[in-house]
Amino acid sequence: MLTGGGDAPGLNAVIRAVVKAGHNNGIEVIGLEDSFDGLLDPSRTRRLSPKDVTGILRLGGTILGTTNRGNPFEYPHEVSGEKVDYSDRVVQTFEQMKLDALVVIGGDGTLEIAHQFYLKGIPVVGVPKTIDNDIWGTTSCFGFDTAISFAADAIDRLHTTAEAHRRIMVVEVMGRHAGWIALHAGVAGGADVILIPEIAYDLDKIAQHLRDRESYGARFSIVVVAEGAKPIGGEVTLLQQAKLGHVERLGGLGALVATALEERTGKETRYVVLGHLQRGGAPTAFDRVLATRFGGKAVELIIRGVFGRMVANNPPDIVPIPLSDVVGKTKTVPLDYDLLRTARSIGVAFGD
Ligand code: F6P
Repeated sequence: MLTGGGDAPGLNAVIRAVVKAGHNNGIEVIGLEDSFDGLLDPSRTRRLSPKDVTGILRLGGTILGTTNRGNPFEYPHEVSGEKVDYSDRVVQTFEQMKLDALVVIGGDGTLEIAHQFYLKGIPVVGVPKTIDNDIWGTTSCFGFDTAISFAADAIDRLHTTAEAHRRIMVVEVMGRHAGWIALHAGVAGGADVILIPEIAYDLDKIAQHLRDRESYGARFSIVVVAEGAKPIGGEVTLLQQAKLGHVERLGGLGALVATALEERTGKETRYVVLGHLQRGGAPTAFDRVLATRFGGKAVELIIRGVFGRMVANNPPDIVPIPLSDVVGKTKTVPLDYDLLRTARSIGVAFGD
């Protein structure tokens, strides 16, 4: 079992469930360190017994370590004049260690790698993980509920200082190219404006909305900005371009929007970037339960010999869906999503 990509609260809860359910079904579980790196070097593996996972249910992070770099299919090197990547070495190690199945707990990037290894013959079961909630085929991922609970709490705190100073407060949240965190945390926190990647925004319209609020007596405003939101006809704001083995790093939009809104409204504006705080800390009860259900289902699939699947939340059940259906897709917020329509109906502006 390995954990890959950015961490999310609940990873340890999955690890614990896989180890306990595996143990109770006579399966020995080996933990691989730092994603697929653990299959490049057998010294980075360890046997996990129920004792090793005692007390980790409520811990954030991952006891196995993770990385969102180092795709074994992306690092070509020369062997006897021939270009090969590290993926063959991963398969070799898997075979040498006489492993029977590989549980891959990860986001879209990691699950794509898992699918490639499944096609190379490794019996894989995928477990979806991300605070972004953007994995296709599952209604929810563990980590999301913890992230939005934290963000909503942060927005609550900003309300009091915004009101005291009669300011506009801009809050930048994560989510990459999907607006789930911004929308859910924004609604839970009572935001007045929410910018999401799915709806291109116009700063003049947002400024007008904030001035209108002022004219009916609202003396402060909260603007929640998804890191991947774009202006009409414009691009996402990047901290770093993509390079070999690294995806692009989104971020910086909160500062831009704050400056633009202060100029347009004449109101003092401050911004906050919640950043990796959204990924830290203990998972909520919802995420612990979902993660435990995913782990239990993964073991059930291994026992049944069902591979090449990802466990997915399809309420009220956890179901296996083909990894081939999941890869290459992003679950973004549908424009007819009921929460989006509800948010508009209670006066939240989206800048369009
Ligand atoms: O995918 C999860 C996520 O937290 C995104 O919301 C964010 O853009 C990205 O990971 C940050 O990644 P890193 O940890 O590499 O900065």
